[in-house]
Amino acid sequence: MTVHSGPPPRSVPVPAPVAELAGDRPVTPVWRNEAGGLTFQLGQDETRTFVKWAPAGSGLGFDAEAARLGWAARYTTVPRVLDAGADADGAWLVTAGLPGESAVAPRWLADPATAVRAIGVGLRALHDRLPVDDCPFSWSVADRLAEAGVDPADRPELADAPPVDRLVVCHGDPCSPNTLIHPDGSFSAHVDLDCLGVADRWADLAVATWSLEWNYGPGWDALLLDAYGVAADPERTAFYRRVWEST
Ligand SMILES: Nc1ncnc2c1ncn2[C@@H]1O[C@H](COP(=O)(O)OP(=O)(O)OP(=O)(O)O)[C@@H](O)[C@H]1O
Ligand SMILES: [Mg+2]
Repeated sequence: MTVHSGPPPRSVPVPAPVAELAGDRPVTPVWRNEAGGLTFQLGQDETRTFVKWAPAGSGLGFDAEAARLGWAARYTTVPRVLDAGADADGAWLVTAGLPGESAVAPRWLADPATAVRAIGVGLRALHDRLPVDDCPFSWSVADRLAEAGVDPADRPELADAPPVDRLVVCHGDPCSPNTLIHPDGSFSAHVDLDCLGVADRWADLAVATWSLEWNYGPGWDALLLDAYGVAADPERTAFYRRVWEST
């Protein structure tokens, strides 16, 4: 069954290992992704932890994410990995809770201007802090297409990458829900870093702006780019949206 990503029903079944990890702490389902993966919050307040769980056979796993979180934690605030495991039914990754709420929490859907500004500031901070020279992960167009089994020879519209504007360590999934925002509206941190890698910053910016439309409606791009500190680049934006769609 294909499901769209978003908050899951509160009645979603809790996988056994998640219940075991929770012990006597309350378990709150917070997210369901398109592949049927679930995220649960265990406990509350500043001691809360998060468990991402992926059903066996979904093609999802957490090795790539754990490796990237371990590397990025040396330079910026990302979820700290506490535990990981797998059984016949699925795999899981446990991280320490970071402050703030997702940029698509109800309070931020009701205040898009604040959320969009925090997303732009947050993306700029990530790009400024993570060192390209030390990064062992790639998110290049060639690597993404190869991983998705897309032959650029068959897709001329994906073969004409514009020259790199600025090489940075990209988030890799810069959609709005992956930015956490403090209660005062300032940027807190990013989550969901399993595709983090070196690429042109427009690979992130093209999708971060596109995602605003899906979450808050049209018309927010300029505010994100202003908060990030860059002028619009329609050509690179169009190219990297085509790559996103194809991978
Ligand atoms: N360590 C953490 N601290 C705070 N919130 C977290 C943490 N980990 C996950 N979350 C919350 O859970 C949500 C889902 O996590 P995440 O984005 O990593 O899951 P996903 O299934 O990979 O998402 P996607 O649908 O983008 O693939 C996040 O949007 C965030 O609100
Ligand atoms: Mg996510």
